Amino acid sequence: YYGAVVNPVSLKSFEAHRACLIAVGSSGNIDWVVEDVESSMVQDALAARGYADVQVVCLREGEFLCPGFIDTHTHAPQVPNIGSGQEYELLDWLENITFPMESKFSDVAFAERTYASVVRRIIDSGTTTCCYYGTIHLEATKVLADIVNACGQRAFIGKCNMDRNSPSHYIEPSVEASISATKTLISHIKQLPSNADEPLVQPILTPRFAISCTSPLLKGLGELAAADPHLRIQTHISENPAEIAFTASLFPETSSYAAAYDSFGLLRSNTILAHAVHLKDEEIALIATKKAGISHCPTSNFNLNSGVAPIGKYLDCGIKVGLGTDVSGGYSPSILNAIQNASIASKVIAMQHRGEDTSAQFSNKQLSIASLLYLATLGGAEVCSLDKSVGSFAVGKSFDAIQVNVRNEAGNPAVWGDNLASKSLEAMLEQFFFCGDDRNIARVYVQGKLIGGKEFH
Ligand code: GUN
Ligand code: FE
Repeated sequence: YYGAVVNPVSLKSFEAHRACLIAVGSSGNIDWVVEDVESSMVQDALAARGYADVQVVCLREGEFLCPGFIDTHTHAPQVPNIGSGQEYELLDWLENITFPMESKFSDVAFAERTYASVVRRIIDSGTTTCCYYGTIHLEATKVLADIVNACGQRAFIGKCNMDRNSPSHYIEPSVEASISATKTLISHIKQLPSNADEPLVQPILTPRFAISCTSPLLKGLGELAAADPHLRIQTHISENPAEIAFTASLFPETSSYAAAYDSFGLLRSNTILAHAVHLKDEEIALIATKKAGISHCPTSNFNLNSGVAPIGKYLDCGIKVGLGTDVSGGYSPSILNAIQNASIASKVIAMQHRGEDTSAQFSNKQLSIASLLYLATLGGAEVCSLDKSVGSFAVGKSFDAIQVNVRNEAGNPAVWGDNLASKSLEAMLEQFFFCGDDRNIARVYVQGKLIGGKEFH
């Protein structure tokens, strides 16, 4: 690949190179990268590395490569509900909007139809790695895993565990049934065909949240987790005040929401905690100690009136943070929309603290473009414990990438102006983040393979 590349480096900086040469081997991993190669020197640069007869994909003016987006939290069965029920807060929204839709996935044919279009839409939004919640249904969640694997997306897929405080038509009959179906799903996912060293699709334990799981169920899931240190865990935490109060009443013996998960061995370095809007200081310290990650879902946090998560504070505490769309709490399956709302959420907090001490690095400050890029890519990879293999362009990592096209042409949001050549790559990235959408995502690659985007169809 030869052309413009943006690459996250840290929460404070990113690289932007106009003329970069990236070599991707047959395994789909990056063999080498050379920055700032004149177009007349590309063949020489290839020959010098013994790559004389390779096909070079040349990007045009107004196109650049960026590591693929990582969605650290979404609900595949809620995609059909996008944009509905915005008058509710969390617990009423679950009861009136979400559980009725999720219960439809007892119908496997419905799951097949729905998940095929859901996964296609999420891939074409530029999401190369996705943490999916399914429903409580084993068969439907197997279907989701099969579809994601066939499409070539990288993903973690979990079957929701729910054995209490759920409607009678949408609840698991027993702890044993819930654990047994979870084990069956894990086995199913582990036998899916894969060409990559680390399989693209992996299972993830998914206790929906503490309210919907009895202590014996959480204990059983903790035992499954203890038996496999690599098994990721995803759940919700401290999203909404009524939810937090209800959780406290269900676990009177523990000091906090986070402590409840921890008491079952569910808080560890590969746990993904969605929302974390209203954490107490002792919970922030516990999460930092356990090295668990937080999925920041700002669109959902605004939409369900949950609150504004203090992400800068978490970053200053050294907690890993990635972005989540949380469809359909959030009304967009695109990480671009999460980027936009993460920026606005950080500005809301900055406004509330205007004039106060600003000596901290991130607390109470607006997120920079570098931070937003990081959260959408490398930060998400850290949260998924995948940062050694994805999240940025580096030798040995997988080529999981999006090819962005901001040229002013038919079908693209026409905000870029005519004079692209005079525009910096940094300026293009910022406009893409705030005004772009899936029409600007020309190609989506996972493990070096083209799997989606506007030019894929
Ligand atoms: N808490 C428990 N279940 C859910 C869900 O489906 N979405 C959100 N946003 N929060 C939850
Ligand atoms: Fe959620």
